[in-house]
Amino acid sequence: MCGIVGYAGVNEAAPVLLKGLEKLEYRGYDSAGIAVLNGREIEFAKAAGKLQVLRDLTEEGATVHGRIGIGHTRWATHGEPSDVNAHPHVSNSGRFAVVHNGIIENYQQLKAMLLGKGFTFLSQTDTEVIAQLVEYYYGKCGDMLETMCRIVGKLEGSYALGILCADQPDRFYAVRKDSPLVLGLGEGANLVASDVSPMLAYTQRVCYLDDQEIVVLQADNVAVYDINGERIEKEVTVIDWDVSAAEKGGYEHFMFKEIMEQPQSLQKTISPRLQDGEIVLDDFHITRERLEDFRKIYIVACGSSYHVGAVGKYVLEQTTRIPVEVDIASEFRYRNPIIDEHTLMIVISQSGETADTIAAMREGKRQGSHVLAIVNVLGSTIAREADDVLYTWAGPEIAVATTKAYSTQLAVIYLLALKFAELLGTMAAEERAAHYQALQQLPQQMESLLAEKEEIQFMASQLYNKHSIFFIGRNLDYAVALEGSLKLKEISYIHSEAYAGGELKHGTISLIEQGTLVVTLATHDALVDKIKSNAEEVKARGAYLLAVAVRGDERMAEVADAVFYVPRTLPLLQPSLTVLPLQLFSYYVASQKGCSIDQPKNLAKSVTVE
Ligand code: F6R
Repeated sequence: MCGIVGYAGVNEAAPVLLKGLEKLEYRGYDSAGIAVLNGREIEFAKAAGKLQVLRDLTEEGATVHGRIGIGHTRWATHGEPSDVNAHPHVSNSGRFAVVHNGIIENYQQLKAMLLGKGFTFLSQTDTEVIAQLVEYYYGKCGDMLETMCRIVGKLEGSYALGILCADQPDRFYAVRKDSPLVLGLGEGANLVASDVSPMLAYTQRVCYLDDQEIVVLQADNVAVYDINGERIEKEVTVIDWDVSAAEKGGYEHFMFKEIMEQPQSLQKTISPRLQDGEIVLDDFHITRERLEDFRKIYIVACGSSYHVGAVGKYVLEQTTRIPVEVDIASEFRYRNPIIDEHTLMIVISQSGETADTIAAMREGKRQGSHVLAIVNVLGSTIAREADDVLYTWAGPEIAVATTKAYSTQLAVIYLLALKFAELLGTMAAEERAAHYQALQQLPQQMESLLAEKEEIQFMASQLYNKHSIFFIGRNLDYAVALEGSLKLKEISYIHSEAYAGGELKHGTISLIEQGTLVVTLATHDALVDKIKSNAEEVKARGAYLLAVAVRGDERMAEVADAVFYVPRTLPLLQPSLTVLPLQLFSYYVASQKGCSIDQPKNLAKSVTVE
């Protein structure tokens, strides 16, 4: 989704903005632009297409002068990707420039009002309305802070804004509501950005802005105000990610780097929380009494995070015997869910900024549920608004297709399930101890599995030209199949579906033809014979069978064309290992097809619109 960066500093702004936008490329975009204050007026450049187009247009920023500026990568919502719809949008007089992430829901009413006042519009975007609105209010009051307060009162929807005013050549303004915006405090450079990645080269000291907080940034000063124009103090957080954590580090793709990083990410997520044979969860305030009071658990998330929830349902029901429902966040609040103070809601999000998940969480809180969030990005909206937060210490995840965030979310689900089982007494001490031990072994088992990546690479080289692929599994393997299928389709653009093994013959089996690839997950020990029968059914209709099984279990070899073996762990934890060959398979298939792996077409990393 759109990315914003703003800079006030002692260096030329344009190259800093271009570099910052490069760090935000991973979010997904289709056009880019920058605007800079040159002391007297605003200079700007924007273009549809990749950042390189803008780089060429501005000769790497050399043609746009000044030390204060704003930049933007646009993911089209209102109006096609084009030069004219790209941000920044400049007001009719040319004195104001605006970049925006989010959607202004009342832009048509505002546009009608402004048209009535004689303003004209060039683009099809909702954002251009903001540029003219700023000009309109500034014309009335002549004060930029007051103008900011007024527009915050007028705009409905979500926004993170960076705004330049030619009358104030030493500063720029920023504000957010329901779209992410972080403030970075450096030496001789202050910045705003959609996330911390563009600012790590300048500072690790950041402030997370709350809704409707207005910031005025100068090279040597930053002031934050509330909607009434009153000055407020912000807490400073020091980020412990360094620049290298967000670099490719010699790998061809971020996705591959992140797949390979999973043993370390898992270690970081698990180790600090397993102390002397006990699970110790930071920022977790659920007592045994409170837990006993929950009659239902909802897990709510989108995409791959939802797939972690699908595993979580099996795991939490098994360990706590509390009924668990897993819901897609964009559906949840529209189905009038039954929520009260006896409900625990677990929201899962890598970015912590997914609009649908935020909205579902707020609905859950409004109706009295306790919200526990599993989040990767420190200080994100979900992390700040939830009652309890458990961070997945995966570090920055840059590839659009999630891998290490998925694995660490899963690890947190396991820690949570075991903690709940301990509090509720639903699992014998020896069984819990066996799970703690198995959890600690997972990173090393992942390591040994990833060392066999060439085997998967070979399989991918034989199978990458398929047009349609099915993933089947039962129980936890079905939950993992959902993720395997999503991973493949999002980066390789091959049509793929995941099915519960027993469900195929209720319709989908009609799609199986000679040579159709069916990836069969058969790692759930208790159901291997059942899934084997389902595999036989598709094999009999011509399918090519690629199976994933646990090392030492030869049952699938009797029916499959090829089998990849994963190390064995306890059944509840097996998804952590089963998912790895699926991630690798997707990666290698996409690589064979020459796809844009880190930034697949049409996709965005952080989906900040509903
Ligand atoms: C798929 C993927 C997406 C995200 C989804 C939710 O690889 O990354 O499906 O899982 O957009 O995002 P978060 O977890 O940030 O809420």
